[in-house]
Amino acid sequence: MSLNLNSLEEVASAMVASGRGILAADESTGTIGSRLAQIDTESTFESRNAYRDLLFSADGMENYISGVIMYDETLRQSSLADGTPYPEFLAKKGVIPGIKVDAGAHDLSGSEGEKITYGLDGLDERLKEYRKMGARFAKWRAVIKISEDNPSGYCIGTNAHALARYAALCQANDIVPIVEPEILMDGTHDIDDSFVVTEEVLHTVFFELYSQGVNYSGMVLKPNMVLSGYDGDNRASIDEVANATLECFSRTVPVAVGGIAFLSGGQSDEDATAHLNKMNQLLGDNKPWNLSFSYGRALQQPALKAWRGKDENVSTAQAAFMKRAKLNSLATQGKYSEDME
Ligand code: 13P
Repeated sequence: MSLNLNSLEEVASAMVASGRGILAADESTGTIGSRLAQIDTESTFESRNAYRDLLFSADGMENYISGVIMYDETLRQSSLADGTPYPEFLAKKGVIPGIKVDAGAHDLSGSEGEKITYGLDGLDERLKEYRKMGARFAKWRAVIKISEDNPSGYCIGTNAHALARYAALCQANDIVPIVEPEILMDGTHDIDDSFVVTEEVLHTVFFELYSQGVNYSGMVLKPNMVLSGYDGDNRASIDEVANATLECFSRTVPVAVGGIAFLSGGQSDEDATAHLNKMNQLLGDNKPWNLSFSYGRALQQPALKAWRGKDENVSTAQAAFMKRAKLNSLATQGKYSEDME
């Protein structure tokens, strides 16, 4: 396989084609450091490269994975087997190389406890360099938290504006933007609160995307599912989550959008797969958008635990990664069932 994708629309469709989804392996140096600490492995340039190599070189991963989101350092690293730079290594397998371009969530001045995503300064130049290096899509994550008083309209509006600025710049540089407004599921809120906030955020984001001339067919939306807060009582069932999420999107996400690839957001691996599966079953053949995954933790956790930083565990870790990739691939087609776990 290799990549033969000639427009933003073709790249966006290929990213969410049925049976395939995106591996989010774009943890910043700080975040991957905490993940490696969990398995008692020191975070070095070499250990980070070895871990990403394990995922990218897993035999047959391209059957389930359409694209990989990398971090700046990873985009510049290379295959351990033959030194091929990762963008080329992945493209040769038919996997689309992507790059995280935001500079993280920082305190939003004038608001108590809310965040704004940084990274617009110099973004145009960085996108030009990344495109030359082979990146065909990018990611920008905005973070919204539900609490007694928040989110504020100010936080939603400024984050939506920045997401649209980023998306317009990506498209001007022939890069598909993944637009990720993540409503965190930390807290005690119920699924109705999650619904109301997700609806407001998506309306605001699409208003800004429209205002700034973003081509919906040449982008991918990376949303949260509509879930109960992790610390809430009487948490919603798989069916309730699937129904609420689809109802929310039917009100807010234009059918022209190239595709939807969910984040996992700290759900258990099994829940992330079951929710995606249920939504695809409910939509059946009558799909306004392809619903796929862009999971970080829900694809990687079992592999990370199996690896523990040791060469002798690489093939076990790859098998653990492939299992999640395959089950999520089935979920994009509504063909997963719990007894496959
Ligand atoms: P999770 O699936 O672990 O939430 O990560 C996805 C991601 O890329 C967050 O920006």
